[in-house]
Amino acid sequence: MADILPPNMLNERPRTPAGLLSNAEKDRLIERGFLGLYRWYTARSQETRNWNPDRSFEWLKLRQDLPPEIVRVIQGFFAVEQYAPDFTSSLVNLVRRSHGRSHFQLRWGSEEEKHADAWENAVLFSGQRSPQWIEEYKERLRSQTWELPFPDAIHNLVYTVFQERATQLNYLNMMKIAQGKSEKPQYKDFSDPVLAKVAQTIAVDEAAHYNFFLEGVRMYLYYYPERTLDAIKNVIGQFSMPASALVPDWQDFAETVYRAGIYGPRDFQRDVMQVAFRNLGIESRKALEEGIRKTREVPDFEGGNHKTTAIFDTFDYGAVEGDVRRLHVKIQDYEKEIGFDRFDPTEFVENPEVPKKEGQAADD
Ligand SMILES: [Fe+2]
Ligand SMILES: [Fe+2]
Repeated sequence: MADILPPNMLNERPRTPAGLLSNAEKDRLIERGFLGLYRWYTARSQETRNWNPDRSFEWLKLRQDLPPEIVRVIQGFFAVEQYAPDFTSSLVNLVRRSHGRSHFQLRWGSEEEKHADAWENAVLFSGQRSPQWIEEYKERLRSQTWELPFPDAIHNLVYTVFQERATQLNYLNMMKIAQGKSEKPQYKDFSDPVLAKVAQTIAVDEAAHYNFFLEGVRMYLYYYPERTLDAIKNVIGQFSMPASALVPDWQDFAETVYRAGIYGPRDFQRDVMQVAFRNLGIESRKALEEGIRKTREVPDFEGGNHKTTAIFDTFDYGAVEGDVRRLHVKIQDYEKEIGFDRFDPTEFVENPEVPKKEGQAADD
């Protein structure tokens, strides 16, 4: 098509149909959202989750007779979390041009680093692994480098949403066991308040991480629905826990975790995928795949907007818009508290591509 147009017309043809946001504008809005969210997040993290992996727990009170498979699980948690420097450096590099996202990844990394140290303390204070053993294990782990599961930022962002939720779930179920609330008969009479507190403290961090990344994916979903839904489909199609290919005894760990009732494929379906889907206005995996397939059947006429309208049937965009609006209200409240609003307020800008629901006023 392009070669039959006179060369001068190529430049004159508007790249964005009138009334729609350009990609540059969308990127700017998403960047502002991330920056505001990052600032809010950091303040909150310091106020409410400023714990220390050594001082916040009474390590000497950790049971010396933990069931060996519980120690096995803790050791696996430690193995994954101790790749925090790799996770952080790769992700920082990927998003280095974004202030909000790259600074957030540093803050996030500093929290993940605490998780690694806390789980290592738990392994050591269990008394079931010698310091020499831990040192050698660590050396083995560190001889490998964790690399990004996907080459681009949007896929990695989506991956992190599922990963954080899955990690949180692992720790919550470990907490349940340590609180004596497991449904598994082997843990009927077992409890350990120190271990319960460790698992709970880290799970709260993971929930905060999940929320940050979730808000990010919602912004992408709102401004770039097609690209984002496609990334979600690709990520769930090949999801595995981070570092599962690097930890030398992963299979044994995964089986132990499964037998302990902590995490398995069903938990991923029900408590990770379905939860994230609900939070993103996606009905089910089937609805997602079906929607993407339908979108592709619609011809993408030049200058037309057919493709983008079809995509909005794939998810509950009204719910996502509501969530993105609420995120902006949260950011604006924070900015008012500080006084940023007087100088440079973050504003919500509607995506005009989003079709209005019947009965909804245009300025609603
Ligand atoms: Fe973590
Ligand atoms: Fe995390």
